[in-house]
Amino acid sequence: MKSVKIFALAAPLAFAALAPASAQETKGQFSKELIEKGRYLATASDCVACHTNHAGGKPMAGGLPMSSPVGTIISTNITPSKEFGIGNYTEAQFADAVRKGIRGDGANLYPAMPYVSYSNMTDEDIHALYAYFTQGVQPVEEKAPETSLPFPMNIRASMMGWNMLFRPNETHKDDPAQSAEWNRGKYLAEGAAHCSTCHTPRGVFMQEQKDLNLTGGQIGPWFAPDITNDKVHGIGSWTQEDLVTYLKTGRLDHRAQAAGSMAEAISYSFQHLTDTDLNAIATYVRSIPNPSASKASAPTRFDQGKAGNDLSGFRGKDYADGIKADHAGSALYTANCASCHGYNAQGTADGYYPSLFHNAATAGDNATNVIAAILYGVDRHTKDGHVFMPPFGDQPNTVNALTNVEVASLSNYILKDYGNAKLAVTPEDVQLIRDGGPSSQLVLFARIGMGVGAAAALIVLCAAVWLFRRKRSQTQTAA
Ligand code: HEC
Ligand code: HEC
Ligand code: HEC
Repeated sequence: MKSVKIFALAAPLAFAALAPASAQETKGQFSKELIEKGRYLATASDCVACHTNHAGGKPMAGGLPMSSPVGTIISTNITPSKEFGIGNYTEAQFADAVRKGIRGDGANLYPAMPYVSYSNMTDEDIHALYAYFTQGVQPVEEKAPETSLPFPMNIRASMMGWNMLFRPNETHKDDPAQSAEWNRGKYLAEGAAHCSTCHTPRGVFMQEQKDLNLTGGQIGPWFAPDITNDKVHGIGSWTQEDLVTYLKTGRLDHRAQAAGSMAEAISYSFQHLTDTDLNAIATYVRSIPNPSASKASAPTRFDQGKAGNDLSGFRGKDYADGIKADHAGSALYTANCASCHGYNAQGTADGYYPSLFHNAATAGDNATNVIAAILYGVDRHTKDGHVFMPPFGDQPNTVNALTNVEVASLSNYILKDYGNAKLAVTPEDVQLIRDGGPSSQLVLFARIGMGVGAAAALIVLCAAVWLFRRKRSQTQTAA
């Protein structure tokens, strides 16, 4: 009896073990190596970040809601399920979805799917991705909720005009004047790893301004700084190794830490790339100039401020008076921040808690990342472990929520003593970052779009969805 039971269990197991081999034989196409190559490209492209509902959904089964000022877009199931996923996609249909934003049934996808970046992918890499998505991903027999935007945003065809203007239609071609490493770096940085999506400022139609490549852009509540090779405004003072270390770990001692969407990109994607590919990306990024290059002698955002405190400034004084006179910053710092960042903002010796002087977040050209760090904290998973700073905004796990007036006071104290003393933060600035970053212009465009036609609204949607997704998933990670 016992042995029968074991046999009964073993038989389906043995069958299951055979099944993939025979399936591969009958389909007869994809080698293990090809599927692995596809898996690596999918990681480099961060497909899983958007196509998974991180509140308990299965990988690649879709269902992640991405809110935008004009409605919620929901990512789709891209597992090989024939009924609910992309199991019936031919390779040509798959290529069109990834590179051109055209769905299997011919309808246009919303640019929340970053086909503009992926458009540079070679046929060879699309082939590997297709192999992975048909034979390397588990089918999930679940329907992702459907996207239904209000009129006129529900007219998918109106994306065609924008695509005509702004979607590149050429795959990557090597520049023979450059090294193989540089070309590989360009291919990854502009395509799969899409650095410019966040680090390049956008124009009125929400298109990336190619002539200002990597000179810095607002992405939801965070600012993705200038990463050109400019010595003052960019990262021209970093070595090749510095940049690779940052992409792999999310930090560079006494210079920069990755929070927000950069932390997500590192956690899900960049840290898993090979050293060869990270070096290629660094080689390419370090070759990009800032068109308005600055004098090399000026101080950078990595070497501003110094250690110190203002304990005597508030001892024995009334907190409410301090708030009124806007000098409660040092009191707020001591109460909320000093336990980790130190009384003199010097951080800890091992660098786990960074110093707040000599820190890119506090000495940038704008105060966005100081405010965002306070409101949203830091949350990053790498091979080195979990890096976490609690949020002080209104996130679900906030221990001590600070008001706009308090955050402004605290930011001004940090900027003045440790960072860029030329900047000043108002409570209104804080509210803007709390609301997910500067989006009023987008909303305005969306309203105009309602009156004038769907195209304008969809243009707005394109960027807005991306920006708001970042805020949304941040809230989810925090929860
Ligand atoms: C920034 C978020 C994001 C990333 C990254 C992303 N996608 Fe998407 N993708 C979406 C959204 C949202 C949709 C649905 C858009 C719509 O409904 O118009 C989508 C739709 C698709 C579709 C169409 C499926 C269907 O409904 O028939 C395919 C195929 C697809 N994505 C593949 C990929 C692959 C492969 C990758 C990685 C190389 C990837 N996506 C990365 C957001 C993303
Ligand atoms: C999804 C948006 C996003 C993508 C994609 C992205 N970044 Fe970032 N990046 C950011 C944000 C936001 C910051 C600021 C993080 C902080 O200070 O906490 C940042 C910070 C950085 C910094 C540190 C700069 C400084 O002064 O602190 C470097 C270097 C960098 N990114 C390089 C890259 C490279 C190279 C790529 C592509 C391989 C890339 N990023 C892709 C959003 C992004
Ligand atoms: C429980 C410990 C802890 C507390 C309390 C704390 N921080 Fe942090 N902080 C961290 C950690 C950890 C990091 C990220 C280090 C890394 O990325 O490697 C960080 C990073 C930062 C950064 C850089 C973020 C970036 O995007 O580059 C700033 C600015 C900052 N903290 C300010 C503050 C302020 C202001 C307070 C008080 C309101 C505060 N912190 C309270 C632990 C803490």
